[in-house]
Amino acid sequence: MRDSFGRMINYLRISVTDLCNLRCMYCMPQKGICKLKHKNILRIEEIKEIAKTFVALGVNKIRLTGGEPLARRGMISLIKDLANLDGLKDLAITTNGTLLKKFAKDLKNAGLKRVNISLDTLNDDKYSFITRGGKLKDVLEGIQAAKRVGLSPIKINVVLIKGFNEDEIEDFLKFTEDGIDVRFIELMPVGEASNWALERFISNEIVLNKVKDLVKVENINPSSPAVYYRLNNNKGRIGLINPISCKFCNNCNKVRLTSTGSLKLCLHSNREIDLKGHLRKGSNLKNIIIKAIKEKPESHYLEDGTYIEKNMFQIGG
Ligand code: GTP
Ligand code: 5AD
Ligand code: SF4
Repeated sequence: MRDSFGRMINYLRISVTDLCNLRCMYCMPQKGICKLKHKNILRIEEIKEIAKTFVALGVNKIRLTGGEPLARRGMISLIKDLANLDGLKDLAITTNGTLLKKFAKDLKNAGLKRVNISLDTLNDDKYSFITRGGKLKDVLEGIQAAKRVGLSPIKINVVLIKGFNEDEIEDFLKFTEDGIDVRFIELMPVGEASNWALERFISNEIVLNKVKDLVKVENINPSSPAVYYRLNNNKGRIGLINPISCKFCNNCNKVRLTSTGSLKLCLHSNREIDLKGHLRKGSNLKNIIIKAIKEKPESHYLEDGTYIEKNMFQIGG
C-alpha cells in the first residue's frame, strides 16, 4: 500500500492493551485512568482478523505494543497465529521486559522473532521512581531470559530525560559488548505528560558529544527511525531516535492500531479511523484501510505546538 506521498506502508504496530504493570512518568498519569469496558477493546480474534487483512494488503512487519503487551491474556495464541501469516517477515514486541522471565520461552516457541525492551536507568531507586514502583531486577532478568532463548536481536530503548539519566549514557553502552543494541530516544510531548516532557527534553546530540569514537553504520533499513553507530567494533549497535531534533517522517512506513480498534495514521495526529466499528458491522475492511492510508499526514507538526490528546500507553509508542 502506498500513501498519497508515495510512501510504502508495510509496518503495523498493534497495541494489544492499554494496561500496564508499570506507570512510567512520560507515559501514564499517576491516577485517574479508567479501565476500559470489555466490549470497547478488540478481542484477540478481532486483532487476528485485522492483522490478516493488513498482511494481505502488503504489511510485512508487525510489532505488538501496549501498555504492556505481556499483560494481555491470549498473547501466545495471537503470536502463534500471526507468525503463520503468509507474507509476514518480521514479528516483534516492545515490552517493559518485567514479564519476560516468565514468558520468553513460550514467546520464542510461538514464533516471536525479537524484542525491544524499554529501560531508562540502571539504578534501582531511579527505576522505581520513573516507573512509579517497578523493580529493576525484573527487567535485567527479563533481558537475560530473552537472550537465553534466542529472541534476537534485542534492542534496549532508553528515553533520555534531563536531570535524570544523561549521566548513565556511557553505562548503557556496556550492553553493546553483549551484542545488544542500545537506542536513545528523544522524549516526546504526548498526552497528559506533555508539559513534563517539554521541560525534561534533551536532544540526542548529547550522546554524540559524550561518546567520542562512534562510527556511523550504514542504514540497512531506510524506514527505521534510528540512526545507528558502533563503538569499538562491539556487536551491539548504538541507535539514536530523534523524532524531535531530526524528524524521520519522510521515510515513515507505519500505521498503528490501538487496543480500542482505531487506526492511527501518525503517532502525533489526533485523527483516528474506527476499524473495530467497521469490522463489527461486517464492512469491507480492505477498502476502508486502503482509503484511510491515503489520508496519512505528510509529517508530525509538534513544533507548531500540536497537542496529542491520547497518552502514550493508549497509543503504544
Ligand atoms: P525496530 O523495528 O526494532 O526498529 O523498532 P521500532 O523503533 O520501530 O519500535 P519501538 O517500539 O522500539 O520504538 C522505538 C521508539 O521510536 C519509540 O519511542 C517510538 O515511539 C518511536 N517511534 C517509532 N516510530 C515512530 C514514529 O513513526 N514517529 C515517532 N515520532 N516516533 C516513533
Ligand atoms: N517519548 C519518547 N519515547 C517514549 N516511549 C514511551 N513514551 C515516550 C515518550 N513520551 C517509548 C517507550 C518504549 C517505546 C514504545 O516508546 O520507552 O520503549
Ligand atoms: Fe508501561 Fe511502557 Fe508506558 Fe512504562 S512506557 S508505563 S512500561 S507502557
